[in-house]
Amino acid sequence: MLYEKLLAPLLFRLDAETAHNGALGLLRRANSRPWLQALLAGRDRAPEPRLEQTLCGMRFRNPIGLAAGFDKNGIAAPALAALGFGFITVGSVTPRDGQPGNPRPRLFRDVPNRALWNRLGFNNRGADTLAGVLERQPGLPVPLGISLGKALQTPIDDAFGDYAYSLEKLHPYADFFEICISSPNTLNLRELQEGSRLDNLLTGLVKKADDLARSAGMARRKPLWPKFAPDMPPILRDIALTKCRELLDPAIDAVVMGNTTIDPAFNPDPAKGGYSGPPLFPKARDQVRGAAARLEGRLPLVGNGGIFDGGDAYTMMKESGCPLVQLHSALPYRGPMIARRMVEELLQAMDRNGVRHVSEITISQPSRSSK
Ligand SMILES: Cc1cc2nc3c(=O)[nH]c(=O)nc-3n(C[C@H](O)[C@H](O)[C@H](O)COP(=O)(O)O)c2cc1C
Repeated sequence: MLYEKLLAPLLFRLDAETAHNGALGLLRRANSRPWLQALLAGRDRAPEPRLEQTLCGMRFRNPIGLAAGFDKNGIAAPALAALGFGFITVGSVTPRDGQPGNPRPRLFRDVPNRALWNRLGFNNRGADTLAGVLERQPGLPVPLGISLGKALQTPIDDAFGDYAYSLEKLHPYADFFEICISSPNTLNLRELQEGSRLDNLLTGLVKKADDLARSAGMARRKPLWPKFAPDMPPILRDIALTKCRELLDPAIDAVVMGNTTIDPAFNPDPAKGGYSGPPLFPKARDQVRGAAARLEGRLPLVGNGGIFDGGDAYTMMKESGCPLVQLHSALPYRGPMIARRMVEELLQAMDRNGVRHVSEITISQPSRSSK
């Protein structure tokens, strides 16, 4: 492929963050230039009915999503949608005018394993700027998620205020909100996955989202998707998911299971930050499978971590019944055609296994009954 043979080797001569910013800048130019989108991603293919699903009140043209962190400031969302992803998450974003994140270098490649480390620390221009960016952009043909994070300076006990601020500021622009409580790069953030901290955060955000929907005259609130770490021990994971089953609404909410790992059994150099890409896949698979067993189909599950091709997506979906998956690290290795190629590969895996529609292998319509 042209990207892997020619462009990637050139990009990989640059520092990883510089290359990332360059690629994002090019994509931003493509936001309003269909010819450039076609050049980057190939011709738009016809809709693929075998992959279409309705979930959380949204229509997904395919189950392959772009995970949070690639486009933290939402500058290239229209172009990313044009590449063929089924849904896109921008952010994570922190309140007001954001924060610089950790000092550079803070993004590293592990080329032989096609993996990445990052210790970015939620570098972003803030919820106020993101609101302005999204206000000026055209609506997307796919569901748009905004991932909310906590500012480094905010004490963990005051975290709710950060998420609530950004939820309110960005309320008109998102189709769903991810609640990132699983980044390893913000001190203590993962404590929000546990006990009364998780309870208070989710209860507060559900109420806030209800209030915002009422004020906007909406029939129902916007979906909230908490995002958990692959490193959670099974006992804590299961307690957290039981809480999610109690507090969230299966008709609109979901759980994202997966983020980068700092587990030294999978991360060869945790000092460089959270590790992601194919070496994470076995761990992510286990965690998503465990989550599916605990959720028992009562909340939609989004699988995340180490997915590199459509075969991986098929494996995770089939094993755990998750109707949606997300990827991030594979994008710089496979290039802008990744979403289209993954759709092809997923369809091929379905053909090999005699699956006509994704709903045959996924749990996409959880019931409200028996939490
Ligand atoms: C450079 C980079 C930045 C990331 N930033 C965020 C972020 O801001 N918020 C978040 O929820 N996850 C973030 N992630 C985690 C990804 O969304 C994803 O969960 C993780 O990388 C595992 O998926 P992958 O193996 O497909 O990359 C980031 C990942 C990378 C590699």
